[in-house]
Amino acid sequence: MAQNVPLQVTVNGESHSSEVQPRLLLVHYLRDDLGLTGTHVGCDTSNCGACTCHVDGESVKSCTVLAVQCDGAQITTIEGMTGADGAYHPLQQGFWDAHGLQCGYCTPGMIMAAADLLARHGDGPLTEADVRKGLEGNLCRCTGYENIVKAVLAAAEAGRGVPA
Ligand code: FES
Ligand code: FES
Repeated sequence: MAQNVPLQVTVNGESHSSEVQPRLLLVHYLRDDLGLTGTHVGCDTSNCGACTCHVDGESVKSCTVLAVQCDGAQITTIEGMTGADGAYHPLQQGFWDAHGLQCGYCTPGMIMAAADLLARHGDGPLTEADVRKGLEGNLCRCTGYENIVKAVLAAAEAGRGVPA
């Protein structure tokens, strides 16, 4: 087995220093080492997007990234989207209000991908087509996507530009 290597990351504003196996995937580091189980594993082959989180402000599928590639990075997971006062992020509120989920397995990844979409989209109007294109890397086997799209459009109305 390869030797452990040092890793320092800031996750949801908290600094973590560890020694990890070079082959450890970011998703397993988040879930198993840090206990942040809101980041889900749906496929482990970069297809479903359930494992999406943000690394240095950009959404990544954390099953495709080695933890050691994130050394020094700022990482945000779904657990970091809620405000310090417990207030939902506009996307979390949007999914709640529009009932943008059924089993909820895809929801954390959808929200993280949507947050990246909103941050990158800028101030122009966000269309249904923009949302569908922006979330095409995230699969949902329950909802048929209709209410997910509504949730993201509602969040864009309510709080576009709110940082993740
Ligand atoms: S678990 Fe990463 S894309 Fe499916
Ligand atoms: S709500 Fe079940 S997979 Fe999306």
